[in-house]
Amino acid sequence: MNTETQSLLIEKAKEAREKAYAPYSGFSVGAALLCADGAVYTGANIENASYTPTVCAERVAFFSAVHDGHREFTAIAIVGGKSGEDIDEMCPPCGVCRQVISEFCKGDFNIIFSNGKADRVLTLDGLLPYRFSL
Ligand code: THU
Repeated sequence: MNTETQSLLIEKAKEAREKAYAPYSGFSVGAALLCADGAVYTGANIENASYTPTVCAERVAFFSAVHDGHREFTAIAIVGGKSGEDIDEMCPPCGVCRQVISEFCKGDFNIIFSNGKADRVLTLDGLLPYRFSL
């Protein structure tokens, strides 16, 4: 993963974060997913008054890419923080999103975080070892 691609994905994740619908948590997340063919899909979290139907930014990005026919992925950048404020902490994906990533990605898939100052790249193997699959 070169640093130029990394920065581009983080920028796209920040843009996507602006579209979050997060009136309950006040925490806005954006994600930018890079497909193997170079296409980029973005997502933001979409919450619900009944809480459980809330969908994370990562899953919005993955499901729209998969629905468009994509099945191979290289990396995802994720940024999150208090709505209306700049990000200042890393936002690693929740357990449910890790399992969704695992459905479509191999162990070397890159997961990129940023806190606005420093970036970090981990692999799916690093974030979800011994994962469940059928
Ligand atoms: N959230 C994400 O969008 N992605 C994650 O990986 C962690 C959590 C969202 C869900 C909810 O709308 C808000 O952040 C607070 O949990």
